[in-house]
Amino acid sequence: AQRTLVLVKPDGVGRGLTGEVLRRIEAKGYRLVALDMREATTELLEQHYAEHLGKPFYGPLVEFMMSGPVVALVVEGHEVIAGFRSLAGTTDPTSAAPGTIRGDLGRAWGTAVVQNLVHGSDSPESAAREIGLWFPAL
Ligand code: GTP
Ligand code: MG
Repeated sequence: AQRTLVLVKPDGVGRGLTGEVLRRIEAKGYRLVALDMREATTELLEQHYAEHLGKPFYGPLVEFMMSGPVVALVVEGHEVIAGFRSLAGTTDPTSAAPGTIRGDLGRAWGTAVVQNLVHGSDSPESAAREIGLWFPAL
């Protein structure tokens, strides 16, 4: 089955929503393959967010991701890459659909960086790259 990298970002962990995110992933029938709470390092985030280097939100994004612990997950299931992004909802919680993690739980007010609770890989190539970064032993 397909695998994806999911992160519960510092706002999700800080607001006590880790369990709620896990509940939605498991209720959908996806399988947890790996789970680890950790403080992300600059080096890891620079690689994780390499595609956004140079964008105006890049600095604030890396800073936000280091503002507290994250919960990193590898999740497995049929078409889970697109499926988890569908569970997460669109990037900005302001407009994310009800029924999604960001739509139901994301706070709809503006901040320097979009604090949107979760990350999910956006393609099979990204998933392979990101799982290698966060879980090199897998
Ligand atoms: P991830 O699953 O976290 O990768 O979200 P995404 O794929 O929906 O968004 P994307 O990869 O384009 O951007 C990564 C993260 O950068 C987002 O989740 C936001 O936290 C932040 N971000 C993206 N675009 C913007 C933007 O236009 N403005 C601001 N302030 N933050 C942004
Ligand atoms: Mg992305």
